[in-house]
Amino acid sequence: MVDVLRSGRLSLGPMVPRFEEGFAHRLGARFASAVSSGTAGLHLSLRAVGVNDGDEVITSPLSFVASANVIVYERATPVFVDIDPVTLNLRPDAVAAAVTERTTALLPVHIFGYPADVAALERLGLPIVEDACEALGAIHPDGTPVGARGHPAVFGFYANKQLVTGEGGMVTMDDAAIKERIDSERNQGRAPNMDWLDHDRLGFNYRLSDVACALGVAQLEQLDELLADRAGVAALYREALRDLDPELTLPCPDAGGAVRGWFVFVVQLPRGLARDAVIRALAERGIPSKPYMPAIHLMSFYRERFGHREGEFPVCEDVAARSVALPFFPRMTEGEVGQVAAALKSVLAGSATLS
Ligand SMILES: Cc1ncc(COP(=O)(O)O)c(C=O)c1O
Repeated sequence: MVDVLRSGRLSLGPMVPRFEEGFAHRLGARFASAVSSGTAGLHLSLRAVGVNDGDEVITSPLSFVASANVIVYERATPVFVDIDPVTLNLRPDAVAAAVTERTTALLPVHIFGYPADVAALERLGLPIVEDACEALGAIHPDGTPVGARGHPAVFGFYANKQLVTGEGGMVTMDDAAIKERIDSERNQGRAPNMDWLDHDRLGFNYRLSDVACALGVAQLEQLDELLADRAGVAALYREALRDLDPELTLPCPDAGGAVRGWFVFVVQLPRGLARDAVIRALAERGIPSKPYMPAIHLMSFYRERFGHREGEFPVCEDVAARSVALPFFPRMTEGEVGQVAAALKSVLAGSATLS
């Protein structure tokens, strides 16, 4: 980091390929391209797999809004389908049923770091862009790290992620032509071998600076510990909340060889409980928590633009209405997790009086 500052090469310098090569190597992908955010990576990836005006892209309604917005950026239509009630990821059978002649890509999201069933989606034979923004460290049931299946897979490095560069992202892929296109479009449409200020296609400024890449390189060296710290906090939560199970739905445990890359600890409250009142009661006990995540199709922009309404995706809507993200950070102690668990237990025990 200090070397970068002293070098005067704060962008378009040597730290970018160093971070990219280290990241690709760590995941077992052929290539990686550093970009200014997860959103930028998703946008460039959709363009690189050929999404155009009027196309349809099938994706999950339970995600951060960016994964649907990038489809709209290209004037394509996000086609939402319902999620699996256990993993909270896209249901491959629902995806298959939604494919039309206008479907040009699938955009599965590894929500809350749990790997989506990409192997089943691959059998549909359509281009795939994986939203792995929350899933660094996750592993598919067949042992492949998320990000190493060959399709463009996009990671995010915003300040709450497993690896952070403030803002930033990375696309991994196996196809050299996709890497070439993403590298050009992130830099205003200039190919690496072109003259200064010559541009042969439309591009963007989606570059990641050398300063940010230096932060990334340093954290890659400690990634195992960073991931283990998060998994450790999740294990403490699971133990501390064990006696509330199944009244409270905890994040699904790893199953069938899949491994979650821990990002957040989201619980689903019992049905019929006023979530906002629970969040307020937790705040009164000094515990911050958030409703997380809302269903994208029910956000006002998506209702107005695409005419979405309640009742379209019942599993997603049920989960979105009951979900609460508890405090979760890598260095949380057993005592801190215990305080959250105790507060949650006391709120749920007194839930009859909540309003
Ligand atoms: C599922 C998902 N997709 C996309 C993004 C967008 O990433 P960024 O904020 O880096 O643009 C995020 C990050 O918050 C995310 O959680």
